[in-house]
Amino acid sequence: MRKNYGDWPAKSIYRRTFLLAASAALASAQVSRADEPNETSLSQRAEKKGLSFGTQVNSGPLFSLKPYHDAVLRDASMIVPENEMKWRPTQPTERQSNYFNADRIARFAEDNALLLRGHTAVWHQNPPVWTKDIITSDEGQTVVLDHARELIGHFRGRVMEWDVVNEAIAPEDGMPDNLRNWPPYNKGGIDFIADCFHAAREADPKANLYYNDYSVYYQSQGRRRDAILSFLEKLKSRGAPIDGFGIQSHLIANAEFDENVYRRFLSQVADLGLKIRATELDVSDVRLGPDIDLRDAIVAAHTKLYLDVLFDEPAVIGLVTWGMTDRFSWLHEGWPRKDRLTQRCLPLDENFAKKPMWYAIAEAFDRAPSR
Ligand code: XIL
Repeated sequence: MRKNYGDWPAKSIYRRTFLLAASAALASAQVSRADEPNETSLSQRAEKKGLSFGTQVNSGPLFSLKPYHDAVLRDASMIVPENEMKWRPTQPTERQSNYFNADRIARFAEDNALLLRGHTAVWHQNPPVWTKDIITSDEGQTVVLDHARELIGHFRGRVMEWDVVNEAIAPEDGMPDNLRNWPPYNKGGIDFIADCFHAAREADPKANLYYNDYSVYYQSQGRRRDAILSFLEKLKSRGAPIDGFGIQSHLIANAEFDENVYRRFLSQVADLGLKIRATELDVSDVRLGPDIDLRDAIVAAHTKLYLDVLFDEPAVIGLVTWGMTDRFSWLHEGWPRKDRLTQRCLPLDENFAKKPMWYAIAEAFDRAPSR
């Protein structure tokens, strides 16, 4: 499935910065270190600063592939299921819920004293097939709200943080308040989204409730930044119980990043009284050539650039990566390289060895101001 990246930066803008960035990045990657198994983990480094580090997990390899399972436990203090809590897998038919895989992940979190993020209750992309006609009918909002109550209620008391609503803003759809063109949003508007947050609060009063969205990092994404800020402001002013904004952080190596623009955006979100977490970090290398060292260096340099600004904002409370190892990334299918090489987009390589991106995250935590 190919994700619509909306207004990701256009290729041509970045060519001129490529060579400069590439040589700087290569220079820094020369300082490659041996992989030390007892090195301070990412979550230990994060915790020293009052931050947290987590990763997305997939129940398939988590319960069948020991090196993957061990890699998750080595670095993360928080996990979020990749797909297992989404609507389609948890309610395959109208009358039957199936929490088998989501429950296994919740138990794994408890057994290993990991915090659990819930992802996600309301998302236009994942309703089960049986909802197809209901969603577009007058019952659409009710069925979505019922689902949110049921899902969040099922995990009551066990999830630290829920992405209650995911990716509701799509300015390109031309709908009121920049809401995505999706029947429940078309009919209910922002009030409906506020209702989703109220339903979530009732279903699990202790969980922190997040709105989660993408493409707010780069120069060309100003329209999305503005739309999301005004949306969050309206949600708050209508009394929606929202605690935080999840910034997905699906980055693209070598895209033009203006740190002042991003700093300002983060502080505007913070001014709304919201916590911020980067919830799905990965760094696509689709715009880079095939050379592995160069790709790793540029991905690491981009990670550093981004995280240094992110962690400077006091409202930011942590980072979650959308996977731990290049062996498993949604980007391989969702955003494949033209040459079909495996993207080098996550902290560990396909054999679970630390890459420069791992060290870039580690050092960003080390540099981060304490909370
Ligand atoms: C992706 C999963 O990684 C894929 O396995 C699945 O096919 C589609 O969804 N933003 C989100 C995540 O909020 O839920 C998406 O996860 C990636 C983009």
